[in-house]
Amino acid sequence: MDVGLIGWRGMVGSVLMDRMRQSGDFKHISPTFFSTSNPGAKGPEIDGTPFVLRDAYDLDALCKLPVLLSCQGGDYSQRVYGELRARGYRGYWIDAASALRMNEDAALILDPVNRDVIDAAVDHDVRTYCGANCTVSLMLMALQGLFRAGHVEWLSSMTYQAASGAGAAQMRELVQQMRALGDAARSVLDDPASDALAIDRAVTEALRDAQFPKQQFGAPLAASLIPWIDRAVDDGQTREEWKAMAEANKILATKAAIAIDGLCVRVGSMRCHAQAVTVKLKQDVPLDEIQETIASANDWVRMVDNDKESTLAQLSPAAVGGTLEVPVGRIRKMKMGPEYLAAFTVGDQLLWGAAEPLRRMLHILREHGVH
Ligand code: HSE
Repeated sequence: MDVGLIGWRGMVGSVLMDRMRQSGDFKHISPTFFSTSNPGAKGPEIDGTPFVLRDAYDLDALCKLPVLLSCQGGDYSQRVYGELRARGYRGYWIDAASALRMNEDAALILDPVNRDVIDAAVDHDVRTYCGANCTVSLMLMALQGLFRAGHVEWLSSMTYQAASGAGAAQMRELVQQMRALGDAARSVLDDPASDALAIDRAVTEALRDAQFPKQQFGAPLAASLIPWIDRAVDDGQTREEWKAMAEANKILATKAAIAIDGLCVRVGSMRCHAQAVTVKLKQDVPLDEIQETIASANDWVRMVDNDKESTLAQLSPAAVGGTLEVPVGRIRKMKMGPEYLAAFTVGDQLLWGAAEPLRRMLHILREHGVH
């Protein structure tokens, strides 16, 4: 299958390329690599074959390919997708960005959760497929079983989102902030006689210093947090918060929308988003049945026992980053009543949250006979 890859060098694109190499995808996929900034230059080497970069604004070249996959970002999609379709391009467009997600003629892809919806879309000649918001995808990977069993009346997810979700420059800035704090506290920290309040004073002073590196985030993230992600929309929500209900219901193709809402918070983890979830169940389902339903939903969700040792070992960004596993733990009924369930989940936002559904969509198209 011939596939044009655009934006393969950015953060999501690089993770995608790694996964495609690891999984042997290039045995089945013949790639053309495009660049918005460097056409004509040397591109990546795949199995010893060097590739030359094509111009990502060359609509004629793009139009020749039956499948285009873009990790280039929303601005590129806005500009090029419309022009391609306007000139009659009928190929498949697979996109990591949010720009086209809510278009009526676009389907959202998270195949372990909504393979049936994707298959129906391909059968109905839908030609545009978008990866969903990372927090939404990771929440659905974690709690697919509850949704599939029809147990969810509503769900509130309070998120702890990694720097990577904001971008590569922000990941760098987080670590620069950590270094600045380490430098500021070094001498107090090195003195075994210094007390914790002296360390705190050094750190707080650095956090409030005008020179503290915060150009990307606009505020300190290391040793702090930022309870705001993306721009404001209506009703006091941020756009990140708005996506939860809109995209989750679109992924699941629910007939009656399930209310999903919560506050989205940026924290100082590198590439794993975490979420503390409250689920209002439609009825009192026993906890062991709930655990079984969640654990058996897909091959990547993993139940973590609700004890300190398991939680510390398995339920953190430090434990999960770089893996496809989606652990769910801290599961228990809440004091509000037996229909209220608490859970905590963690997932790599660059894998299931971004790259993985895209590469899997290429295989789904192959299975549907696209070549
Ligand atoms: N919007 C997400 C975030 C990134 O800011 O963390 C991936 O959808």
